[in-house]
Amino acid sequence: MNIAIIGSGYVGLVTGACFAEMGHKVICVDSDTAKIKLLKKGKPHFYEEGLEEMIQRNMRNGRLFFSSSIREAVRKSLVIFICVGTPPKPNGEADLSYVENVSIEVARAMPSYRLIVEKSTVPVETGKWIEHTIRLNIKKKIGSRLSADRSCLSAGRSRLSADRSCLSADRFDVASNPEFLREGSAINDFFNPDRIVIGVESERAKEILKEVYKGIDTEIVFTDIKSAELIKHASNSFLAMKISFINSIARICERTGADVEMVAYGLGLDKRIGRHFLKSGIGYGGPCFPKDVDAFIHIADKLGYDFSLLKAVKKVNDEQKALFIKKIEESLWILKDKTIGVLGLSFKPNTDDMRNAPSIDIINSLKGSGARIKAYDPQAMKKAMSIFKGKWIQFCNGPYDVARGSDAIVILTEWHEFEVLDLIRLKKLMRNPLIIDGRNIFDPKKMKKLGFRYICIGRTA
Ligand code: UDX
Repeated sequence: MNIAIIGSGYVGLVTGACFAEMGHKVICVDSDTAKIKLLKKGKPHFYEEGLEEMIQRNMRNGRLFFSSSIREAVRKSLVIFICVGTPPKPNGEADLSYVENVSIEVARAMPSYRLIVEKSTVPVETGKWIEHTIRLNIKKKIGSRLSADRSCLSAGRSRLSADRSCLSADRFDVASNPEFLREGSAINDFFNPDRIVIGVESERAKEILKEVYKGIDTEIVFTDIKSAELIKHASNSFLAMKISFINSIARICERTGADVEMVAYGLGLDKRIGRHFLKSGIGYGGPCFPKDVDAFIHIADKLGYDFSLLKAVKKVNDEQKALFIKKIEESLWILKDKTIGVLGLSFKPNTDDMRNAPSIDIINSLKGSGARIKAYDPQAMKKAMSIFKGKWIQFCNGPYDVARGSDAIVILTEWHEFEVLDLIRLKKLMRNPLIIDGRNIFDPKKMKKLGFRYICIGRTA
């Protein structure tokens, strides 16, 4: 199958490479020409395990191409996936202008039937708007052709009837196919999904998408377009709710002396609840959850429903970072001129993604209180350097380098590299053996035995 991916960001690029790996012929498009130039050399602009090799392999096999022309991609492909960004506006609402622009360009470029699939996370009813925009722009295109033809009497009649047929309803279909890929395990998630959700409104579109995903062994949930869009909102919001729930339980554990890790374990064994997404910490971050929760709150408000449950999820998440900063302040007393070593900067392990990483607010707050910051992350240093501009933050070569002369170490991302640290060596390098762990990677009792003052989330030694 010939597939176009419009928008070669995280979702688009991973999806495009995986479709090529399945045997489809894929053109990935992006308006950022520098990005396309890099991709043509087989270099993705972010780190995701296994992606670079997969891109290069499929370029060599002649199944994966890159272009900055939507027109070229639409002409060569039957299925067009829209994977452009939907960044938040200041009020939390998703900005859909990229989706609209792409829909207009796709409409202008379509030579015959095409299936347009929205994959970007979009508000419910966006599918309807994409369809409306495409239809409107096909009409406009035909309108301008007709007026040109009127001035050219001889060619007019045959062209006119051909163009009228273009207006027929079966010239295109729109579908919704939300993505559920997690950064750091996106390729595995693509090939082993819990389900594939497809919102379609024609048999033709349904058959094409069945063919696209042929070979992936999972349940395909076919729904109407609006339900598919809502499945995505509901899924991310529910997961965010689980995180805020366990973070609330952690606060009660801290007041009672219970251990949130044990509570989460006992809670999660109930199959109705499930064990995943019950890890307490410094709150959820990343490019999806914060944005998607805000957008869903906004959508509900617009529909006249006060989604107070989701508003509370967001409030708990915002508080979680502030509470962690308070823990650092309480354990160091005066932050001014203290050296704080930060381990982990990306919003989660196995990615270099710094978007909405809790580390940004936490580090900025510590700097605001006059602390000196040393930091290390296995993958995200380059991106962090462009966020924390200036010489006030010292980027280190590794965790032991961070530890040297630090008054405290704070752990902000649970990279495996930190879980297997030589803690005795680390302690010797520190000025003061204090670890404030926002990800609960160590056993508090063991840390106490090793002579650390160890402060974490929802558990005490
Ligand atoms: C998420 C969804 O999981 C995925 O289905 C969707 O397509 C995109 O958004 P991602 O943002 O890559 O994926 O990361 P995820 O692993 O879901 O973690 C999101 C945030 O929640 C991270 O900041 C993580 O640290 C935090 N988290 C996750 C917790 O604090 N506790 C948990 O138990 C799980």
